[in-house]
Amino acid sequence: MKRVFSGVQPTGNIHIGNYLGALKQFVELQDENECIYCIVDLHSITVPQDPKELRKHILDVAALYMAVGVDPKKSIIFVQSDVSGHAELSWILTCNSYTGELSRMTQFKDKSKGRESAPTGLFTYPILMAADILLYDTDIVPVGNDQKQHIELCRDIAIRINNTVKKDTFVVPDGRFLKAGARIMALDDPMSKMSKSAENVHSRISLLDEDNKIKKSIMRATTDSDGEIKFDFENKPGVSNLLNIYSAFSGKSIEDIVAAFSGCGYGDFKKELVGIVQEALTPIKKNFDEIRQSQELLDTLRSGAERAGAIAEKTMKRVKGNFGLGF
Ligand code: TYM
Repeated sequence: MKRVFSGVQPTGNIHIGNYLGALKQFVELQDENECIYCIVDLHSITVPQDPKELRKHILDVAALYMAVGVDPKKSIIFVQSDVSGHAELSWILTCNSYTGELSRMTQFKDKSKGRESAPTGLFTYPILMAADILLYDTDIVPVGNDQKQHIELCRDIAIRINNTVKKDTFVVPDGRFLKAGARIMALDDPMSKMSKSAENVHSRISLLDEDNKIKKSIMRATTDSDGEIKFDFENKPGVSNLLNIYSAFSGKSIEDIVAAFSGCGYGDFKKELVGIVQEALTPIKKNFDEIRQSQELLDTLRSGAERAGAIAEKTMKRVKGNFGLGF
């Protein structure tokens, strides 16, 4: 049985990109693997957070994990800051990573924009992510494409420590990316990825959006003027992104969808897509409303932290021992 680990930051507006790139995989993997899914609250404080809002968002993301089908009987669901090993291992990895490799991270460059006042946590963010993964002897990390560079860095650090400190200190993990959902683009600007923080609410579809909002966002999504439904990301990024979303939600191949809409206009295609997305999100919203208020949610996080903590403790003992730390 392989060990799977992944995480989502507890910020608002969890969207269909997060679902199709990551959450959908979480559910698929849980029958055949030992899965650990984390709400990475320590990552979210790399930018300022309102404590009350943060608490709410932590519970929202935990409830969303369960609402999309992550089953706490099969998978461990827990909050990162409940297991101290993440921060502890992060320091050990910090001492074994290079400022040069961190400076090359595109997410850091995008978010810091060269500001001297950029928080140091933004710079060391990928090390904490590596700690999350390595703490659980993870084999597989299901994520969207935007995390590829961070996974590579995690692998590099693990291999480096295995080579210089002690062989077999860490399991070297692999990323897992889905073909259709790995990179969902913004609906209003298909050259940028769909993001939780973009100002325009119609750039994304959040998992808890009402049917009306879903319809509005899709119907006004940017396309092009040539009118042909075809997959060509370079020349038709808007239509190609919508085809990707259609394919990921319906399970149909892009070729089949293109064939089915041959001769149709963008309006007809978008209307069908509205129905497909609404249908997919309806049960998620219903489940969310039930779970979010339940005692089961809090019990799940409590027992999840205990189970994750027991695994983390064993790893930390081994790692610290290999470094000559602790008694
Ligand atoms: P976060 O919270 O930004 O995003 C959560 C997951 O959603 C994926 N994702 C997307 N997939 C497809 N299209 C998009 N437009 C899109 N936007 C986001 C992300 O790739 C991610 O899988 N650094 C991570 C959180 C993290 C983590 C970890 C992940 C912390 N530690 C350890 C895996 C393992 C992040 O910021 O995710």
